[in-house]
Amino acid sequence: MKILFVTPEIAPWVKTGGLGDVAAALPPALVQAGCDVRVLVPHYPALAAAFPDARPVIRLPAFGGQLPASELFLVQAAGTPSLLLLDCPALFDRPGNPYLGPEGRDWLDNHLRFGLLSRVAARLAGNASPLDWRPDILHCNDWQTGLGPYYLRFYEPGGAASVMTIHNLAFQGVFAAQRLDDLGLTGKDWHIDGVEYYGHLSFLKAGLRHADWLTTVSPTYAREIQSEAEGMGLAGLLRSRAAQLTGILNGIDTEVWNPATDIHLPAHYDREHLAGKAQCKRAVQRELGLAEHDDRPLFGVVSRLTHQKGLDLVAAIGDALVALAAQLVVLGSGDKTLEEAFAALAERHPGQVAVRIGFSEPLAHRIEAGADCFLMPSRFEPCGLNQMYSLAYGTPPLVRATGGLADTVTDCTPETLAAGSANGFVCGPATAEALFDTVCRAVACWQDEQNWRALQQNGMGCDFGWAQPAQRYLDLYRSLRPQ
Ligand code: ADP
Ligand code: GLC
Repeated sequence: MKILFVTPEIAPWVKTGGLGDVAAALPPALVQAGCDVRVLVPHYPALAAAFPDARPVIRLPAFGGQLPASELFLVQAAGTPSLLLLDCPALFDRPGNPYLGPEGRDWLDNHLRFGLLSRVAARLAGNASPLDWRPDILHCNDWQTGLGPYYLRFYEPGGAASVMTIHNLAFQGVFAAQRLDDLGLTGKDWHIDGVEYYGHLSFLKAGLRHADWLTTVSPTYAREIQSEAEGMGLAGLLRSRAAQLTGILNGIDTEVWNPATDIHLPAHYDREHLAGKAQCKRAVQRELGLAEHDDRPLFGVVSRLTHQKGLDLVAAIGDALVALAAQLVVLGSGDKTLEEAFAALAERHPGQVAVRIGFSEPLAHRIEAGADCFLMPSRFEPCGLNQMYSLAYGTPPLVRATGGLADTVTDCTPETLAAGSANGFVCGPATAEALFDTVCRAVACWQDEQNWRALQQNGMGCDFGWAQPAQRYLDLYRSLRPQ
């Protein structure tokens, strides 16, 4: 089974969130399951620096509209998926974030940047592909690749079957109608079953309408997005495709996220030997300037600071949390108002609240290991990886009952403790009151050493590796292209 996996980001080189992690870990898991996988991703500066020996292998033509000519650079290493780097310096040779310019605003030509990625994906998956490698499946991820299945169906017919995965329905790639020509599209494409979406052009809508199969990253989110409340304007379309929509829970990379071997940690531990975790807590308290209490629970946050993640609720209960004799560490960036709210909280509580605005992979690992409890009260969460990292790190997560959080975290109650299934705390409504009540429950439980240990060990015993999800994708590919 040959898979062309197309993604706008890939960890560790280019990552803004969970999609980067998924794109780094799912393709190798598919290789393990016997697939032949190539990953198509833009040739960003970080990838050029990481693979200086990558060589151009194929030239692609300009595609009409404003989509320029490009080249593919190939990176091949035994046993791992090959990378196909889409080289077009005018579009991708820019520093920093893959989607935003230095001012923090979307690049003005994002429609061309990701239009080209989608267009090239379709060419490589279609009958006119210049490669001698023909994929059975074109697997696209999020809006940045949403035009891939559309171009494949209408501009490169007869090629691979297409799968479109929704990692986050909130991002839809919506552009002004005038962009149609730039993308090599015409009036023929401008209708409700084409790329048109309420008078605008939507990359994601086109992919969701025309991919052969749709997946999203948890079973609960697959149901939620078919409701008007959570369908972000696409619920009707998704309901019409319910028979071709599956939720496949993400995995985590258990080599990168393993407290027994994690290269970023000052001490190691596992399910049976938790002593190293106390050392990690002291080390992270020291690193961040927190008082080195071991009799206060340390709550951790590592996140994009956006409305989705419900962190305004954490900021709202910050003072009350400190009054419970608990500590808080926050690593994140995004919404300026939230950044300021957390900075102010840290100023009010020196030694008890530490805030780092920015993106740091090593610190993210040290917080996962050093915190006692991980806070993730998301308003919606397609899957969420951090709660799974927390479970693996013996850091019971406190989450809201939504999306992938509901599929991975079992609330701690006397019944679930007795059943051995409790692994965290689940809060109902997205309100500061409900969050605070749940934090109080967590603090009370933390004070009971035996129960807390049981909670940690239940989480650390969960299998969130990629082997099972990869098998489910493979079964799906096979159902689309019986071999
Ligand atoms: P999302 O993709 O919605 O942001 P996920 O939980 O799926 O949420 O994945 C987020 C990923 O990004 C995790 O690997 C998390 O550790 C990482 N991450 C988010 N913010 C930061 C940050 N400020 N520094 C380091 N890693 C971060
Ligand atoms: C998105 C979602 C997150 C998910 C990730 C990877 O960014 O917000 O919930 O885990 O994609 O699928």
